[in-house]
Amino acid sequence: MDGITPDTPPTRVLFVCLGNICRSPLAEGVFLHLVREAGLADRFEVDSAGTGDWHVGERPDARAAAVAHRHGVELPSRARQVTRDDLDTFDHVLAMDRENLRELGRIARPGARAEIRLLRAHDPVRDGDDVPDPYYGGPSGFDLVYEMVHRSCSVLLAELTATR
Ligand code: 4NP
Repeated sequence: MDGITPDTPPTRVLFVCLGNICRSPLAEGVFLHLVREAGLADRFEVDSAGTGDWHVGERPDARAAAVAHRHGVELPSRARQVTRDDLDTFDHVLAMDRENLRELGRIARPGARAEIRLLRAHDPVRDGDDVPDPYYGGPSGFDLVYEMVHRSCSVLLAELTATR
């Protein structure tokens, strides 16, 4: 975090999945939790969005809220659809799976500002690229998602604080 002054703008981080009610709200909540624990709340702006619009305006899925609650993590999000402008206003956009990544690549303007990549590019456990969609599965899927998201967000935060 060298070179940070009170005028340095916050780093803007956006997590993206399909519906914005399961995976990306968990990633948003976990990343915010880690940022606050590290005393860096004023250094980051954090949000989440979905590539689809079916759940716009909804609070996170009850199963996502339950796993977050068990870990002492709040989920502040209300679902919204990702926009082309998001990809020019956020610094880092983290996709939950390759399908989300493809869709973001499709909507991004040429030369878009954001660095767009898979969240699990930061996961030290290399057993796949995707945070699997837990929507149609049972609650154990949400525990797996939580673990992947937590590992990845910890490394992401360490990387973002080491490079600025
Ligand atoms: P998410 O999960 O992308 O992690 O929020 C889903 C939520 C809803 C749907 C699919 C995935 N859906 O088809 O409605």
